[in-house]
Amino acid sequence: MQQSIDYTQYSRQPTTNLNHIPGDKGLPVLGHTLEFLRDNHALVNRGYAKYGLVYRRRVLFQNGISLLGPDANQQVLLDSEQCFSNYLAWNTVLERIFPNGLMLKDFSDHRYHRRILQSAFKKPAIESYLQPMGQHIKEGVSHWPRNQTMPFLPAIKSLLLDIAAQTFLGVHLGDDAEAVNKAFVDAADASIAIIQRRIPGTRWARGMAGRELLETFMRRQLPNKKVSDDLDFFAQICRAQDEHGQQLDDQAVIDHIIFLLFAAHDTTTSTLCSVAYALAKNPQWQEELRAEYAALGERIPSYDEISAMEKTGWVFREALRMYPPLPVIPRRCLRETDVLGHRIPRNAGVALSPLFTHYMNDYWDKPKQFDPERFSTARAEHKRHSYQFVPFGGGAHKCLGLNFAEIQVKLFLSLFLSKCELSVAPDYQPKHTLIPLRMPTDGLPVTVQNRR
Ligand code: HEM
Repeated sequence: MQQSIDYTQYSRQPTTNLNHIPGDKGLPVLGHTLEFLRDNHALVNRGYAKYGLVYRRRVLFQNGISLLGPDANQQVLLDSEQCFSNYLAWNTVLERIFPNGLMLKDFSDHRYHRRILQSAFKKPAIESYLQPMGQHIKEGVSHWPRNQTMPFLPAIKSLLLDIAAQTFLGVHLGDDAEAVNKAFVDAADASIAIIQRRIPGTRWARGMAGRELLETFMRRQLPNKKVSDDLDFFAQICRAQDEHGQQLDDQAVIDHIIFLLFAAHDTTTSTLCSVAYALAKNPQWQEELRAEYAALGERIPSYDEISAMEKTGWVFREALRMYPPLPVIPRRCLRETDVLGHRIPRNAGVALSPLFTHYMNDYWDKPKQFDPERFSTARAEHKRHSYQFVPFGGGAHKCLGLNFAEIQVKLFLSLFLSKCELSVAPDYQPKHTLIPLRMPTDGLPVTVQNRR
């Protein structure tokens, strides 16, 4: 069993030695990059139709292997032989903006940090966020325009940023609000910058400046946070200890919090956009969900009441099935291994596809149809294979915030749908990008109406 890895033994670029894997080179130089950026789902479907569940492709100037379906998901995510590195896969993209994030760590180092961070995700902490989160949602939604088209994406993004400032940082940003929010958005946007050079005016330069501002802001708060008994993520991670009573140093705390903000923000924004779109297209489900909230009246629901919202849970999962925020999960192979009968060489870049898996006819009935009841106990379609539903990944790196994300989405829906109806134009065709995350590219125009 491999515990610590000498990463210097691996070249920064994944191996190009993949000719024994079925596949093609795509366009000269660019490979399959254009299609990957334009419509990754179509690219994967085409690859599967031509070559099967394992094939090679070249995107963003890197050669790699697509490994499709639940069996490949299981082998790579569970990784019982410790063959697949997160660090080598994610670090090239995230190391300078989000260094030392949990998702960039491997094996024993990862386990150590994950155990410390886990304490911040326990029920009492999440319970303590509900009232302030609920108030923010009620207040934010009350300002959204009624009876006219409005872009849902910027509205929900800004609402979630305000909530994150409170739940993650535990601060009322006050005068700093605009600067901190902008710094965060710039840092997150820089993770997809193709040119990572600090040239003034570029996405990368704005992102690096944003990262620095966030660090300075958090370093200023650290002394107070360490002695506070607040329950926000920042305070809890400052106080968290390992089994020997050892706390994380200041830089590690800052790196973890900035990464958590990043891991939480765009994923939840993407999910709420998908849920909003699906409910606007299927208004009968808005009614189904309202029936679940009928007993609440104007109240902000408790943790237990939210957990009991069964149909809201189905809608959340169905939106994540059809529109997973992370359509691709990358890994780098540390030593030669075998997946689905194909030899995967050392230092090969591999990519799993939640999106492809979520539409496989072998595991889902009519997968193109929005049908939340497939997640009901009676039907339980998602249980045909333990790795067929993977919006949160799986194994050691399974999303640490999945429960928090579900609670937040359910809280939003219960407060929003109790007061409002949501619609899209009858002929509306959604436009979105899939890389690096699924996100509407037209802002998702919706109409909000007060319920009569
Ligand atoms: C619906 C929303 C979300 C989705 C779809 C999502 C998806 C994912 C996925 C697919 C991974 C695994 C990546 C990999 O294996 O390489 C992951 C990891 C992670 N997520 Fe989430 N996420 C969501 C919300 C959140 C939230 C709200 C937080 C924090 C509050 C969070 C924190 C993390 C962290 C810390 C990791 C790294 C875990 C590790 O490496 O041990 N996520 N997420």
